[in-house]
Amino acid sequence: MVQKVHLGVLISGGGTNLQAIIDAIEQKRLDATIRVVVSNRGDANGLVRAKNHGIPTEVVDHRKSPTREAFDQVLIDILNARQVELVILAGFMRLLSPLFVRAFPNRIMNIHPALLPAFPGLHVQRKTVEYGVRFSGCTVHLVNEECDQGPVIIQAVVPVFPDDTEKSLSARILNEEHRIYPRAIQLYGEGRLHVMGRKVVVDGMGKEEGQVLIWPPLKG
Ligand code: GRF
Repeated sequence: MVQKVHLGVLISGGGTNLQAIIDAIEQKRLDATIRVVVSNRGDANGLVRAKNHGIPTEVVDHRKSPTREAFDQVLIDILNARQVELVILAGFMRLLSPLFVRAFPNRIMNIHPALLPAFPGLHVQRKTVEYGVRFSGCTVHLVNEECDQGPVIIQAVVPVFPDDTEKSLSARILNEEHRIYPRAIQLYGEGRLHVMGRKVVVDGMGKEEGQVLIWPPLKG
């Protein structure tokens, strides 16, 4: 029998991606168990979501650590004490140091609300709308020592409409985040992700379902 993946989820805020992962586990689309949810903010709504499902929580206030590494070491200790195998960043608003990344090599995932490597960093939905691209989306990737540059696992594409605002585009993207993040974790759990240089090769990923998207359409 394949062992369930032990997850540690790091959050800073609302935790809708956390909720999507909890829901996927409960609906048996994802064979994993969340060992702990850690927030750097005591008022993060995601903590309430975790408690509602009986998941252990910890708050580690980054302002109380003298250095980034000291903060990261507290996180590492918590995750190791709970025997976490895969670290899930779900709206965690702190940059992680190389110390943390090296503690979990190729075992940290992040979700980003854009089609990386386009629009890395912060406020990306606003920048996307301002730039005028026709498509955006979201990316689940492995975390390496460069911010938002780790190997891509899965992406979802959404159209950007002429009347989109930061808010409307964020909502459309978030909807897809909730679909692809549990899927990426399940692929990890099934042992189907293989890191080859800067790429992740996914077992069983053919080309049959790849689609060309054009927006606005060629006709009409
Ligand atoms: C999401 O947009 C995610 O892509 C970004 O932070 C946001 C987290 O939202 N990294 P939530 O806390 O999961 O609702």
